Amino acid sequence: MVETRVVKVDPFNPSTEAIAEAAEVLRRGGLVAFPTETVYGLGALVYLRESVLRIFRVKKRPLDNPLIVHISKLSALSLVARDVPEEALIIAEKLWPGPVTLVLWKSDSIPSEVTAGLPKVAVRMPAHRVALMLIDSVNAPIAAPSANLSGRPSPTSADHVIKDFYGSIDLVIDAGETLHGVESTIVDLTVKPPLLLRPGALSVEELERVLGIKIAIPPFARGLTEASRAIAPGMKYRHYAPRAEMVLVESRSYDSLTKIVNVVRDIALKSMRKGVSVGILCSDETYNYYTDLGAVVRSLGSRSNLFQVAKNLFKSMRELDEAGVSFIIAEGFEEKGLGLTIMNRLRKASGHNIIMADQ
Ligand code: TXA
Ligand code: MG
Repeated sequence: MVETRVVKVDPFNPSTEAIAEAAEVLRRGGLVAFPTETVYGLGALVYLRESVLRIFRVKKRPLDNPLIVHISKLSALSLVARDVPEEALIIAEKLWPGPVTLVLWKSDSIPSEVTAGLPKVAVRMPAHRVALMLIDSVNAPIAAPSANLSGRPSPTSADHVIKDFYGSIDLVIDAGETLHGVESTIVDLTVKPPLLLRPGALSVEELERVLGIKIAIPPFARGLTEASRAIAPGMKYRHYAPRAEMVLVESRSYDSLTKIVNVVRDIALKSMRKGVSVGILCSDETYNYYTDLGAVVRSLGSRSNLFQVAKNLFKSMRELDEAGVSFIIAEGFEEKGLGLTIMNRLRKASGHNIIMADQ
């Protein structure tokens, strides 16, 4: 057990003392959980190999799943990566700080522990004042995965971090709920065309608009299959998952929701008849069709506001776990814009336990 300090800060105007304290913890080799605009990260100074390895240990993260390197200014990119292509500079200029992570050729100064021995490195500049001030303050990049136990839903609040890591990390900077509630979009720019490794808080459509070219979307980025380790390390594990078992009800079209509602109701009733406690993850449009069941029902938001749906996703999974349900039935969403991100997370969280409503 280590003592875990929790320091509350104003997300927009964090106290310089709090940032200085966190920076000191990092410099001494400690682990600090900090907010970003996506989810909370669990950080170590990128050059401290022992500290980086401790991240893997406390998260119970497989050692072959590399970490993202966080920087606070563009000039740091050349410390982290080499042979940086034009596309990276365009994204950095137009979208950083922001929720997009670039996979580039790694520079020699980045320890192999960070990239799990791979020749490539993932790097991003988070759009959160606390994160940027912290990186500035230590004057070095911070290696940080999401601050959740491996396999659990990513943390969108300091409470989630504390649940997973109280007694195993040194400091939590609590700046309230994160803006997006879902992780960054990861794109590999060492290949042509650019390859989407993970859809995230920034839509692929937006990335393509900024780059002016198409991005390749492999089936694993849609969460349909698992990636091979060589292409997308870490994408192969059961991920983002609530403790409860989960089934995802998808449809070929979401113009009419009748079939989905019928299938969700049917599964819920059958499970409850067997004495299983059921949770339902649905949308504002369908919420009223489930309230008579006696299940724990959570709407993720309206289908016309996928930002809200993405933001509520991990939080709601954790809430259903807290409510003690043992089986979750989730509705699918159309794979457009952030819908791609939402479906990637839902398919992985369900362990690919998917039912087509229109079959
Ligand atoms: O929004 C985010 O990206 C958050 C915040 C904290 O920045 N971080 C995050 O980290 O989601 P993590 O570790 O949970 O997910 C990072 C993913 C890993 O699953 C890994 O597969 C991929 O990034 N990754 C990291 N380095 C890579 C590399 N060199 N090549 C390919 N994929 C890489
Ligand atoms: Mg993660």
